[in-house]
Amino acid sequence: MSSERAAAIVLAAGKGTRMKSDRPKVLHRLAGRPLIRYVLDAVARLAPARTIVVLAPGMEEVAQEAAGTQVAIQSAPLGTGHAALAAHPALDDLITEDRLDDVLVVFGDTPLLATATLAAMLAERRRAPEAAIVVLGMRPADPGAYGRLVCDKDGMLEAVIEAKDATESQRRIGLCNSGVMAIAARHLGTLLAAIGTDNAKGEYYLTDIVAIARARGLACRVVEAPLDELVGVNSRADLAAAEAIVQRRLRDAAMEGGATLIDPATIFLSADTVIGRDVTIGPFVNFGPGVAIEDGVEIRAFCDIAGARIAAGAIVGPFARLRPGAEIGPDAHIGNFVEVKQAVIGRGAKANHLSYIGDAEIGAGANIGAGTITCNYDGFTKTLTRIGEGAFIGSNTVLVAPVAVGAGAYIAAGSAITRDVADDALAIGRAPQIDKPGRAKLIRKMKTAEKLARQKKVQG
Ligand code: UD1
Ligand code: MG
Repeated sequence: MSSERAAAIVLAAGKGTRMKSDRPKVLHRLAGRPLIRYVLDAVARLAPARTIVVLAPGMEEVAQEAAGTQVAIQSAPLGTGHAALAAHPALDDLITEDRLDDVLVVFGDTPLLATATLAAMLAERRRAPEAAIVVLGMRPADPGAYGRLVCDKDGMLEAVIEAKDATESQRRIGLCNSGVMAIAARHLGTLLAAIGTDNAKGEYYLTDIVAIARARGLACRVVEAPLDELVGVNSRADLAAAEAIVQRRLRDAAMEGGATLIDPATIFLSADTVIGRDVTIGPFVNFGPGVAIEDGVEIRAFCDIAGARIAAGAIVGPFARLRPGAEIGPDAHIGNFVEVKQAVIGRGAKANHLSYIGDAEIGAGANIGAGTITCNYDGFTKTLTRIGEGAFIGSNTVLVAPVAVGAGAYIAAGSAITRDVADDALAIGRAPQIDKPGRAKLIRKMKTAEKLARQKKVQG
């Protein structure tokens, strides 16, 4: 489907009142990515001649997210028809030079739309006898507040009636407006200009252009798409419903790519999570943005991972936390209750229990004992800990950064290491042990006598 003679308008100027949020609705996230990013990506894959994003004044953050497209500002949120009209001047040149056949209008709050569906709408609009408008329809189990598509007996679209304006019988129509429209470019200006505000909300409804086109004898048709694509996010409940769909798609794609998800429903992925082949992910694992997992990695239950790279053959978890900048080397092990941040863990290195490794470089094959802590922060700056290849860090070691432990060095358990340790040296940084033979027996005797004396006092 050639789309170089099509343009897209993305409406995102609405207040999103029902989200009850300080953040613009289209910046709320699904699998870590803003709603509007999904819509812009779906549109971009169609490669239209131009994409216009309609925003309200002051929506700079959204404009940033939409970088690379053209932005039109809707002066006040007077309805979807008014918003589309705000974008119209940005298409003027293409329309007057006859370089445009279709204008697609999509909503910034309908994130799951597929590019193939947009292409199908263009094809349907151009199919002879050409339609002035094609509306994307859906059949939700509960049509609720969606606009209803009123069709004649031949299935031709006559009007879109908003739920608030619908009669009892119109409200019983199951076929609903998803919000996406393909409009003949040459009719766009006149249709938009004819929209009024005589309705329940007193708004300019874009949907009114269908009845306007019909009154002028122009044909309007419907293309239907599966519900999963057309969830409109208006409330936090809608957002959760869309998230569930996105998660299902991401999990399916991971499994399709050769990963085993032991209990997929408990694994939460980000839109950008990259997962290799023969990766196994246990139950209850959460992936924040920026995670890449190479082939053959095992991630055990209850891990929280964000901004981390995990190289082939590594084992992570259970109960591990990898934070941004964690780079886990090939065949390395990160075990339970180990937190890694901004640290490179070398090939085959192990930190199996109860550790914090932050701002560090751990050499290949090093062994980090249970309870090891890198003290990377002095309340003002963060500094680096370097541990050489094959070093052995005894349990309960505190490494006060900046500090370096040489290759092959040994650190005695319980040490506080405040100076660099040379290659192959043994460092012991703890108070020496003092032994007092028989002293425990004496203490026991003394304490028992005291206890008996106290009991006697109470009874007497
Ligand atoms: C709209 C449709 C409804 C459809 C539903 C599908 C109209 C009149 N109604 O209703 O038929 O079933 O979507 O989800 O079109 N926007 C602006 N400027 C405005 C108002 C809205 O840019 O002045 C943008 C919003 O940011 C949003 C989109 O348009 O991305 C839709 O607006 P919204 O208020 O969510 O419309 P619905 O009530 O959901
Ligand atoms: Mg909506």
